[in-house]
Amino acid sequence: MDILMAVGTPHASRWMQAVQCVLPEAHVRAWRQGDDEPADYALVWKCDAAALKPRAGLKAVFNLGAGVDALLAMLPGVLVEAPIYRLEDAGMAQQMADYARYGVLHHMRRFEAYRQQAARGEWKALDAMHRRDMPIGVMGLGSLGEHVARTLAADGFIVRGYSRSTKTIDGIQTFGSPDGLDAFLEGLHVLVNLLPATADTHGLINARTLARLADNACVINLARGMHVHEADLLDALDSGKLAFAMLDVFTHEPLDAAHPFWRHPRVMVTPHISAVTLIDDSARQVADKIAAIEAGRAVTGRVDPSRGY
Ligand code: NAP
Ligand code: GLV
Repeated sequence: MDILMAVGTPHASRWMQAVQCVLPEAHVRAWRQGDDEPADYALVWKCDAAALKPRAGLKAVFNLGAGVDALLAMLPGVLVEAPIYRLEDAGMAQQMADYARYGVLHHMRRFEAYRQQAARGEWKALDAMHRRDMPIGVMGLGSLGEHVARTLAADGFIVRGYSRSTKTIDGIQTFGSPDGLDAFLEGLHVLVNLLPATADTHGLINARTLARLADNACVINLARGMHVHEADLLDALDSGKLAFAMLDVFTHEPLDAAHPFWRHPRVMVTPHISAVTLIDDSARQVADKIAAIEAGRAVTGRVDPSRGY
């Protein structure tokens, strides 16, 4: 079996080793400019669009991440014909839940305000916030969002969820898109974003949607920068509508050194690390899916390019 690896990150050789380890019989090669030789499977992440050209024998393309926005953006020019699969959880859901929980607790226990008071040597108890008074909304209830929503609900929070189709999840009040959006947002104290980046979700966190949240709310963006209208978010922070934003992803990454998010007193910036790809776990998941395809079994995580995720 021929596996083509097109990984445009510093971890390319780690990926090669991990894939060779889980598929010891396979011939694994790194894509190089001009390689249009046959392959059974292509494993890609941040790759050159030329690696995605149709090639003889290709049974599937595996996107070595959860988000397929960058891959789908390249498709119109290259027209790969094979089905595309993406990573499903592969150890990312727990990381997302840890990150979201940290943000929620930071906001609820008012740690940012206490940190600022401490810097001034000020000893003053602020009004406490309680779980029952601060509903949390999770946008996107897929491999990652559903786990985050369930984790927060298991922690005793009141949790709502928003997805394209309306879902039934024990202990979570769910809403479908687009009709349920306003009811989902109404009075939320924390908005956690785990949507995929598609034409429908572009700029969804904007002045209109932020206005529906409770005053002094918090936004935690774990998905993509394109979901947030950055100027509207800054206005909401400056007007006091938002008390805190925890942002892991940005329209332009790395975030420009002059961007106001870096120095805003109520914004926490992290460099796209809310869920890092675990290479060994991910290689194992891809190998299991390849085994299923070879055996003619059904495989989950297929991307629908017309839907955008
Ligand atoms: P997923 O399994 O494809 O789930 C996507 C969810 O979003 C589904 O529940 C889907 O609804 C919902 N959705 C799609 N379009 C919608 C719309 N227009 N309105 C409302 N809901 C909509 O994706 P995932 O694996 O959970 O990953 C989510 C995103 O996280 C990725 O696309 C990626 O951008 C981001 N991510 C970020 C990092 C990081 O480190 N920051 C790491 C990994 C992933 P249905 O259930 O009805 O289909
Ligand atoms: C990372 O952002 C991913 O989509 O896997």
